[in-house]
Amino acid sequence: MKVLVAGGAGYIGSHCVRQLQAAGHEPVVVDNLVYGHRAAVAPRVPFHDIDFGDAAALERVFADHRFAVVMHFGAYCYVGESVTDPIKYYRNNVAAPLTLLETMLKHGVGKFVFSSTCATYGIPARLPITEDLPQAPINPYGQTKLDVENLLKALAHSHGLSFAAFRYFNAAGAAEDGSIGEDHAPETHLIPLAIGAAQGLRPALQIFGTDYPTPDGTCLRDYVHVDDLSRAHIAAFAKLDKPGTRLFYNLGTGTPTSVKEAVAAVEKVTGLEVPVTYAPRRAGDPPALYADATKAKTELGWQPKFMSIEPIVETAWRWHKACPKGFGDRK
Ligand SMILES: NC(=O)c1ccc[n+]([C@@H]2O[C@H](COP(=O)([O-])OP(=O)(O)OC[C@H]3O[C@@H](n4cnc5c(N)ncnc54)[C@H](O)[C@@H]3O)[C@@H](O)[C@H]2O)c1
Repeated sequence: MKVLVAGGAGYIGSHCVRQLQAAGHEPVVVDNLVYGHRAAVAPRVPFHDIDFGDAAALERVFADHRFAVVMHFGAYCYVGESVTDPIKYYRNNVAAPLTLLETMLKHGVGKFVFSSTCATYGIPARLPITEDLPQAPINPYGQTKLDVENLLKALAHSHGLSFAAFRYFNAAGAAEDGSIGEDHAPETHLIPLAIGAAQGLRPALQIFGTDYPTPDGTCLRDYVHVDDLSRAHIAAFAKLDKPGTRLFYNLGTGTPTSVKEAVAAVEKVTGLEVPVTYAPRRAGDPPALYADATKAKTELGWQPKFMSIEPIVETAWRWHKACPKGFGDRK
């Protein structure tokens, strides 16, 4: 199938593009490279350097290709910035996808796969998190994702849009062959920050909060391998044939990993010490977030290949060791 991948030069999108190719699909990427990397897009994949909120530019892409599905990874993802500059987040994460959805529907494309987030649950009512828990985001980033989920429901009703919305937990790791990996600027994710600190390329890792009600006092999160995320997305294609289909899935391993455990995994895998400093809790960080992904497993036959932190860190380390400056080493 020909698949439009919006945000396909970013971390998760670029890994998904490779998984799409491996599964025999034909990805076409649109990305304005505000955060992504041209070098992350697999060779020979058609690439359009455009903003998916630009209706005229999108129109040209849809005129050139007949897409079966649109996958939407593009968004701004910095929680703190979403609090200080919500307009920027509503514009890019809600208004721009409106244009993308309007254009695809106009061109008769009725299947959509959306990157949502566990941040839509806010402080979860219980753990592990199932899809039926109340969604009450505690920051504008999470709210913009929930707003798009609600827009998709409305379009399923009004236009027969079929969609799958995946609520990711903490995406981590890199392509197993070391070809691409995570390179955000600024980087806010624990594993690249810990590896960079161990390599002496970043400052000491700051651990926020050691007095949480968790076994070692640091936050618990659910790290899911980036290629496992992609495999779930592709598995969803087969479920979208019936117009008006509405699917919501958590994607996580269900294994809670503390910040200290993740740091220990980085030290073990790299053989390097991670310099650490301790800071007070950050406002808005829930003590624990981990998924019950039974629904994705049962309905999509999804089984994460990477079930624990160490093998995930091994893939990340292969990438960061080979490319300490990320895609700066690949241009
Ligand atoms: N990384 C995680 O742990 C995580 C967790 C939950 C949800 N998500 C969601 O997954 C998606 C992908 O995350 P990521 O870590 O790969 O982010 P990323 O920043 O690496 O990738 C996003 C890509 O979208 C592009 N983009 C953004 N706005 C655009 C626009 N208006 N027009 C064209 N391109 C645009 C960026 O240039 C970038 O390449 C995001 O929607 C994010 O909210 C990520």
